[in-house]
Amino acid sequence: MSNNLFHFGMIGLGTMGRNLLLNLADHGYSVIGFDKDEQKGAALLNESTPQHKVKAVSSLQEMVQQIEQPRKIMMLVPAGKPVDDVIESLLPLLQPGDIVIDGGNSFFEDTLRRTTYMQSKQMHFVGMGVSGGEKGARFGPSIMPGGDVAAWKNLQPLLEAVAAKVNGEPCVAYMGKDAAGHYVKMVHNGIEYAIMQLISEVYDVLRTGLSLSNAEMHQVFAKWNEGELKSFLIEISAQIFLQKDPETGKDLVDVILDKAGSKGTGKWTSQEAMNLPISIPTIDIAVAFRDISVYKEERIAAEALYQPERKKITADKAAFIEQLGHALQAAIMICYAQGLAMLHKASSVYNMDIPLKDVVKIWRGGCIIRSLLLEDFYTAYQNNADLANILLDQQLAKLLQLKETALRNVIVQAVQSKIAVTGLMSALGYLDAYTDGNMPVNLIQAQRDLFGAHTYQRIDKPGTFHTQWD
Ligand code: 6PG
Repeated sequence: MSNNLFHFGMIGLGTMGRNLLLNLADHGYSVIGFDKDEQKGAALLNESTPQHKVKAVSSLQEMVQQIEQPRKIMMLVPAGKPVDDVIESLLPLLQPGDIVIDGGNSFFEDTLRRTTYMQSKQMHFVGMGVSGGEKGARFGPSIMPGGDVAAWKNLQPLLEAVAAKVNGEPCVAYMGKDAAGHYVKMVHNGIEYAIMQLISEVYDVLRTGLSLSNAEMHQVFAKWNEGELKSFLIEISAQIFLQKDPETGKDLVDVILDKAGSKGTGKWTSQEAMNLPISIPTIDIAVAFRDISVYKEERIAAEALYQPERKKITADKAAFIEQLGHALQAAIMICYAQGLAMLHKASSVYNMDIPLKDVVKIWRGGCIIRSLLLEDFYTAYQNNADLANILLDQQLAKLLQLKETALRNVIVQAVQSKIAVTGLMSALGYLDAYTDGNMPVNLIQAQRDLFGAHTYQRIDKPGTFHTQWD
């Protein structure tokens, strides 16, 4: 700490802010945090060790004055108005050249607006996605910064120190121009929603179709996590099945109400995909099914009305579970494909220069969607950095083809058992459509032209045509 000034400041000492500061302090950085809530500051100090150089204050001005220039200040506050409010309170306290980082889940269009605004005030602004939850923040998140290159260069050593490491390589890289950092994090979250939806469907097949106990499902997921499905979300699913509810002694998962929450990043991904436009049906389904889940009372009434008979799956259990693993892996590959294709498209539409090779590289560790599969995607982008869709990679195509039949079979069985596996179905449907060189939308074009003179193109000559339909 030169002149008793701190290297880094944090605004917002909630779970993420506090843990990220402690992570920085572990790596020798002197850090100061601000939160109006003094208890949060106290929690930061409580969790720090004597080796840490950590301070907490409840005045923003007091914090800013104690940071070395050019200042590096990160906000970890709820997305939306709180970010604008913090920026307004900060601006009179800053000097030109200071770096302000928004490390929350901000909407990328807000980040674009704020970047321009901060530039006009001669400040550097970095929209940065941070993934990994509490543990990630404390011991190594995946970090997705974008925008201001000079600021990135300045922050790089610090961010590389605190980021998760895979094979010694830090899970942080420059994600591209403007709001690319928050854009990549938004799509990360869309993929997160989709994988969680797929896992929940597989859980339902195991629970309802095969009548597996939670202890048995723990074993299935734990085994999957030792093989090619190895990933954070499979790992925590295995863990969840073992957790007891201290109040009732029951398995906690059985006590949790089946209404899913969401903070909106999945919805943004879907809405934004439609704006581009690009097709991400498995992410759309994940958002839609969280929404259906909220209508619990209606679902109960409808169940009483329809009395669906959920037939047991009679196939050989062990063999079917193996197929289920292959089906899940195939669907997960396809939802990554949708998200990455969206980034490819957005990168060119918005001129963000998103390096997809680096995106998958830094998603291999620290973040919620980290998985062994990302190694294969990394190889694919090393072979072709501008791959429009990972399904076009020859090796990945081979891998997917090995699992396609399992995906189809599992869906057939689940449909007959009246188990909603719409995420799995959407992944398969996407694959079937994407690998179809002759989709039936010629009929849609004919209909559009017939009722609305919307015109169509022909297969045998260029141009735009309209027919006087009989
Ligand atoms: C992460 C997560 C995180 C996200 C939560 C909650 O990468 O660490 O994506 O940023 O906020 O998962 O998201 P929902 O409440 O929308 O499910």
